[in-house]
Amino acid sequence: MKCIIVGLGYFGRIIRSKLEGHEIITVDPYNAEADHKSISDIDTIDGKWFVTTPATTHYSILLELFEKGVKDIWVEKPICDKFEDTLDIFSKKPDDVFLYCDFTWLQHSVIKRLGNCQEVKHVEMKWLNDGSMIPGDVNIVTDLAVHPISILVFFLIKSRDVLDDIGITYASAKSVLINGRSRKGITFNIEVSNTSMKKNRSVSLYCKDEVFRWSSDNACFIEGIGNVEKSDAIEANITNFFDRNAIGYPLDIARTLNDCDCLYNASLH
Ligand SMILES: NC(=O)c1ccc[n+]([C@@H]2O[C@H](COP(=O)([O-])OP(=O)(O)OC[C@H]3O[C@@H](n4cnc5c(N)ncnc54)[C@H](O)[C@@H]3O)[C@@H](O)[C@H]2O)c1
Repeated sequence: MKCIIVGLGYFGRIIRSKLEGHEIITVDPYNAEADHKSISDIDTIDGKWFVTTPATTHYSILLELFEKGVKDIWVEKPICDKFEDTLDIFSKKPDDVFLYCDFTWLQHSVIKRLGNCQEVKHVEMKWLNDGSMIPGDVNIVTDLAVHPISILVFFLIKSRDVLDDIGITYASAKSVLINGRSRKGITFNIEVSNTSMKKNRSVSLYCKDEVFRWSSDNACFIEGIGNVEKSDAIEANITNFFDRNAIGYPLDIARTLNDCDCLYNASLH
């Protein structure tokens, strides 16, 4: 399979490492290691195209790929940095273009397993980074909180529920605390911070009779459930993309992300 990676930085390299055995073409105007400097240098629309550039460039690159006639496009989270641009992308996406939005964690076996838990009453998540990877173009909500937000949207859909209220209890450049409740009364707390000594993710589901806890310290084990099969979430997403299997709710995630982002920006001032 021909695979074109647009943006050969941190994540583009990870994607490249997962595509061994495929014909790989890379595009990056700022990386001398890349095969091409511009999308217009590539004289085919065939193959699978991966957009792994900074979030603020996704909008114009996606429009350029639509215009070029490319049919299979992967875009990294967030789809665009601004919600209006995300809506514009979906309004302009030709019907025959398959646009796969990579919300990596939704293909993690632990998240899929937790998604089957019944009678959820409360969701508690922590997403902690050590400050070594702060992007210059987007804030902590759009860059990092997008992961637990995507998981929250997934859990609520599995509970046939929707968000009713979101609040921000703390906001700074490097940390944000998000809480709220769903229409059926599921409550949630999300702590996202780039000031931790150690990178760590954790998800706990407080259900009617049981509590299920997972932490990246013991990545294949869920308290209350036991061992979960080890799987590579990025490879699982690539398989979906190659098979043209889309997750059903990228716009739900984008809307919730936008709600959190607006509240976060208001809380900073
Ligand atoms: N799913 C995940 O877990 C995960 C993790 C990290 C990053 N990401 C996402 O991946 C994307 C890239 O993040 P990153 O950390 O790799 O950033 P990065 O800065 O390391 O890499 C981005 C690359 O894109 C290149 N680039 C910039 N403008 C370009 C353009 N117009 N055309 C082609 N290349 C261009 C840059 O030169 C750079 O090499 C972001 O959307 C980020 O949110 C996802």
